[in-house]
Amino acid sequence: MKIKNICCIGAGYVGGPTMAVIAQKNPDIKVTVVDINAARIAAWNDEDLSKLPIYEPGLDQVVAGARNRNLFFSTDVDAAIEAADMIFISVNTPTKTYGQGKGMAADLKYIELCARQIARVAKTDKIVVEKSTLPVRTAQAIKSILHNTGNGVQFQILSNPEFLAEGTAVQDLMAPDRVLIGGEQTKEGFEAIQALVDIYATWVPLENILTTNLWSSELSKLTANAFLAQRVSSINALSELCEVTGADVNEVAIAIGKDSRIGPKFLKASVGFGGSCFQKDILNLVYIAKSYGLNEVADYWEQVIIMNDYQKRRFASKIIQTLYNTISGKKIAFLGWAFKKDTNDTRESAAIYVADQLMEEQAHIVVYDPKVTAQQMQADLNYLNTRSEADNEQNLTTVLNPYDACKDSHAVAVLTEWDEFKTYDWQKIYDEMKKPAFVFDGRGILDQSALETIGFHFYAIGK
Ligand code: NAI
Repeated sequence: MKIKNICCIGAGYVGGPTMAVIAQKNPDIKVTVVDINAARIAAWNDEDLSKLPIYEPGLDQVVAGARNRNLFFSTDVDAAIEAADMIFISVNTPTKTYGQGKGMAADLKYIELCARQIARVAKTDKIVVEKSTLPVRTAQAIKSILHNTGNGVQFQILSNPEFLAEGTAVQDLMAPDRVLIGGEQTKEGFEAIQALVDIYATWVPLENILTTNLWSSELSKLTANAFLAQRVSSINALSELCEVTGADVNEVAIAIGKDSRIGPKFLKASVGFGGSCFQKDILNLVYIAKSYGLNEVADYWEQVIIMNDYQKRRFASKIIQTLYNTISGKKIAFLGWAFKKDTNDTRESAAIYVADQLMEEQAHIVVYDPKVTAQQMQADLNYLNTRSEADNEQNLTTVLNPYDACKDSHAVAVLTEWDEFKTYDWQKIYDEMKKPAFVFDGRGILDQSALETIGFHFYAIGK
């Protein structure tokens, strides 16, 4: 079965870049990415490539090469579904904020809406691909919605979770460690799997394309994220132990990581992980384990989140304590708001929670981030509902220049590991700050001894 026409529902951080690369590598397939968010679609279609809704290094060039050739962005969801022989569902699956499973389970309403829309619109057979990260056994629910249309249209459901990391999305898509495709273990299921394998095989070596049953594929994505987050929480747990014992977490991380069974990646102590996925996916895993009565399994994974929350609080408390236990009316500069470098995504960013805690102590926060807008920062704070929108606006301001952020501040806190922070004129920053001048490096990126030589009081996590 040769796929000629793909539709992807959801033009977000996953749908946009993934489909851009699929279109680039498969010029003979027409790829249409649809979304109900008209502003987002307009931005994907903007002539000015700096206006794309998602910032990812290299993405503008991939989009420029394929857009309006065989890559299209549209708000006409029905038309794209009808024309497609393969439909990717790449919509958001946030943590539920209401009802049963509130604060833990994945909210699958967007997924179900997509399934119902496909069921309503489809007139020809389709392969439906779960690209979103979903609880194990979701394909069962999608199948049951699709198979009850009564119009004789046949659907095959595949699970093809996405492993790209924001900030390196294009690189990850171009050379993925693996592509995972799960499907039904029937003749039709194997044909559908093969149709998707053929698309990836135009640029991914076959040995890196894994095929499994549906449930293994769904569960692998959740657990891969849980393993990654677990490493961050493990090293962060050690960072506090290092601080009280005189060990240096960077040295410990190198010593641990040299063990080939452990490996060096993802062992960097920090203010804590963020992003839209790690927390949501672990909570989802915890919820699934609990729903099967596996309480010890649930508790084990929940500890990864508990540790991460603690690390964010601990960083904010360190700032308060160091500034003589009073930060009321003091200006604190934040370098970085995005949850990691090279992305404009701020979902679950540590910066939001650290700012919130400092604002509770009546500090004034001034933020500089190379890619995040003032509007987004305010939206992130307002989402927490800790204080009024007017208070948030008054107590956190955003500036377009890092030196303006640091000028007259009592302390500078690094919340994101943007490379440019390392190359600033730190002497100038020191000269313009209140004394004593404090730096709190939440990402371990600055040269501690150089800054101490200038005269800064320096706090690095895990030292
Ligand atoms: P996102 O929020 O950036 O994008 C989702 C898009 O879907 C939004 O633009 C929204 O308007 C659209 N949408 C929702 N319901 C719709 C509907 N019924 N019809 C049309 N459009 C609809 O989310 P993101 O980050 O792209 O994540 C999508 C999925 O991929 C999630 O399940 C996430 O867990 C998973 N994932 C995310 C990764 C990441 O780095 N962001 C990496 C790997 C997986």
